[in-house]
Amino acid sequence: MFYFSFVPLLDISCDVFSPFVVVCQGTSNKLTQLGTFEDHFLSLQRMFNNCEVVLGNLEITYMQMNYDLSFLKTIQEVAGYVLIALNTVEKIPLENLQIIRGNVLYEHTYALSVLSNYGENRTGLRELPLRNLQEVLHGAVRFSNNPFLCNVESVQWRDIIHDVFLSNMSMDFQNNPGSCQKCDPSCPNGSCWGPGKENCQKLTKIICAQQCSGRCRGKSPSDCCHNQCAAGCTGPRESDCLVCRKFRDEATCKDTCPPLMLYNPTTYQMDVNPEGKYSFGATCVKKCPRNYVVTDHGSCVRACNSDSYEVEEDGVRKCKKCDGPCRKVCNGIGIGEFKDTLSINATNIKHFKNCTTISGDLHILPVAFKGDSFTRTLPLDPKELDILKTVKEITGFLLIQAWPENRTDLNTFENLEIIRGRTKQHGQFSLAVVGLNITSLGLRSLKEISDGDVVISGNQNLCYTNTISWKKLFGTSSQKYKILKNRSESDCQATGHVCDPLCSSEGCWGPKANDCLSCQNVSRGRECVEKCNILEGEPREFVENSECIQCHPECLPQVMNITCTGRGPDNCVKCAHYIDGPHCVRTCPSGVMGENNTLVWKFADANRVCHLCHANCTYG
Ligand SMILES: *[C@@H]1O[C@H](CO)[C@@H](O)[C@H](O)[C@H]1NC(C)=O
Ligand SMILES: *[C@@H]1O[C@H](CO)[C@@H](O)[C@H](O)[C@H]1NC(C)=O
Ligand SMILES: *[C@@H]1O[C@H](CO)[C@@H](O)[C@H](O)[C@H]1NC(C)=O
Ligand SMILES: *[C@@H]1O[C@H](CO)[C@@H](O)[C@H](O)[C@H]1NC(C)=O
Ligand SMILES: *[C@@H]1O[C@H](CO)[C@@H](O)[C@H](O)[C@H]1NC(C)=O
Ligand SMILES: *[C@@H]1O[C@H](CO)[C@@H](O)[C@H](O)[C@H]1NC(C)=O
Ligand SMILES: *[C@@H]1O[C@H](CO)[C@@H](O)[C@H](O)[C@H]1NC(C)=O
Ligand SMILES: *[C@@H]1O[C@H](CO)[C@@H](O)[C@H](O)[C@H]1NC(C)=O
Repeated sequence: MFYFSFVPLLDISCDVFSPFVVVCQGTSNKLTQLGTFEDHFLSLQRMFNNCEVVLGNLEITYMQMNYDLSFLKTIQEVAGYVLIALNTVEKIPLENLQIIRGNVLYEHTYALSVLSNYGENRTGLRELPLRNLQEVLHGAVRFSNNPFLCNVESVQWRDIIHDVFLSNMSMDFQNNPGSCQKCDPSCPNGSCWGPGKENCQKLTKIICAQQCSGRCRGKSPSDCCHNQCAAGCTGPRESDCLVCRKFRDEATCKDTCPPLMLYNPTTYQMDVNPEGKYSFGATCVKKCPRNYVVTDHGSCVRACNSDSYEVEEDGVRKCKKCDGPCRKVCNGIGIGEFKDTLSINATNIKHFKNCTTISGDLHILPVAFKGDSFTRTLPLDPKELDILKTVKEITGFLLIQAWPENRTDLNTFENLEIIRGRTKQHGQFSLAVVGLNITSLGLRSLKEISDGDVVISGNQNLCYTNTISWKKLFGTSSQKYKILKNRSESDCQATGHVCDPLCSSEGCWGPKANDCLSCQNVSRGRECVEKCNILEGEPREFVENSECIQCHPECLPQVMNITCTGRGPDNCVKCAHYIDGPHCVRTCPSGVMGENNTLVWKFADANRVCHLCHANCTYG
């Protein structure tokens, strides 16, 4: 749990918007009991003590008869669902809970579930004074098996939940065997959460005048709340809401947080908005709280998605999409969980799933394919070797002494970029390929062997290997390579096992144009090509450092002329659609957020050039 502060709001008199909010994570245990009843209670108390906004779910379960749950009184808002189940405690005092957002639903249906709250000897839940619960944004409500619960059957749920969820309500109230106090006579239509005036249900929807679009604070048309309000309001403005429907930006309810980028009509670019804010749950914040990171949508989250990784940029921790599989470091053979292991084998290979960096060494020995009864290891299915295809980096050495007989290269390692050789086989070798039936190495991404020697030996069918400029791959001048007992140069030549003519003299890892160490002419991605699509061919390209690079899709392909001079939409010779300042754009900016909360609209003239609309125009 932690605090984060807002700028103090001097001109706001009501205390609805306190200067800081206490948030907590919430739980997802469903009906699981954590340890003894006492343990379970203590962990609930630890999670929710002082909490005002629950970012996940509020689950109250297994609370026994005499427990004191008064710490729940601080909770005002739950973003997920509320589950109250299997309790024998008499009272659950969630009296300040105003809104359940239902971003996550219990059993995919319920925002509020109150289930089986009874025990032996006529114990059970009697009071559930949710007297401020005036909004459930998403999801239905379920009550079942609460034989001692009083008053709640009188509540008019139509005022609280959204109409579309009425059909999924599941309300089962037994006839309470007496001993309940009646609602106070002043309650509207006899609806209350408990005895006494203070527990009357406050209606803020079904009583509203027709003119209101959402909530209201009375029957008159002048009592309508702003449509950004949830639960109710104290006045007509978006700063008078009890709770915000979408986002709260300081004292004001908004549809979205102030954008992080704004369109600048004079530079024709998106600029950083100094007033921009991140969304944190239903709140707009200047900075994400400590231990939170920013997604590319500008919201604060605990952890990045599995397709992105964390970086620090301009002092902000951000999630960035991984370029290909995300980096995952795994121990190599001989380290950690593989301490007493000799080789990659059928038992351990699944632990290498999604690994991009091997911290240590990889050994592939004959025992892997034969199996080993002593360590109860089955023979490795050759197909499983493909698990290692994600490996880009090995910090130690790579040793291969066995390989499926009918494979012609080491294609499993086609994405391996670097062998660091920080540890070496016999203190000497960082790459050893011995006694295989392969014809080419196929290590087409390998760019560096930082330390250690190379030995390629006893591979009777191996060609191409002596074409490789090993010295170019080495990180130090003292590294050596030994290539022994491979196929003879003349046999290789005679059977056509030679480098593609598009390869440079630095050699190749195999027969194809993407096996070259470098290109004779130019490259497109990994492959060597004769020429780039400069004047013809799709898509059109330009050349940068002997590489063919696509022109931006907003560039109009030219005939007998270059289409672009560089990357991006501002290096086109001609635009495919419209021109906004120096940029080619798909459409002129229409309704993009500009400075001072104004929207920028532009129109296109006959030459397809975008111009600013007059400031008085509202929709372009
Ligand atoms: C219920 O009452 C009986 C008889 O008084 C007692 O033996 C038993 O322990 C009680 N059970 C609980 C859960 O309090
Ligand atoms: C009602 O519940 C069913 C079953 O859980 C669900 O599939 C459906 O989407 C729910 N309807 C609404 C409006 O949520
Ligand atoms: C309350 O009851 C009265 C009379 O039974 C009815 O006319 C009115 O519509 C009810 N109001 C609500 C909000 O249910
Ligand atoms: C196979 O892998 C398992 C798990 O790492 C290990 O316990 C076993 O010793 C290995 N067998 C061989 C022959 O390497
Ligand atoms: C591997 O990555 C895929 C895709 O990102 C993911 O679905 C899977 O759970 C990951 N498996 C392991 C063992 O990390
Ligand atoms: C070994 O490689 C050669 C050349 O590629 C191939 O003809 C032969 O079938 C391979 N041996 C086995 C057992 O697959
Ligand atoms: C190698 O042989 C196995 C079984 O003998 C077969 O399933 C597999 O497809 C073969 N692989 C190649 C690359 O020919
Ligand atoms: C193996 O490679 C070496 C070194 O490039 C080369 O000199 C030799 O001709 C090749 N063939 C054999 C059979 O050693």
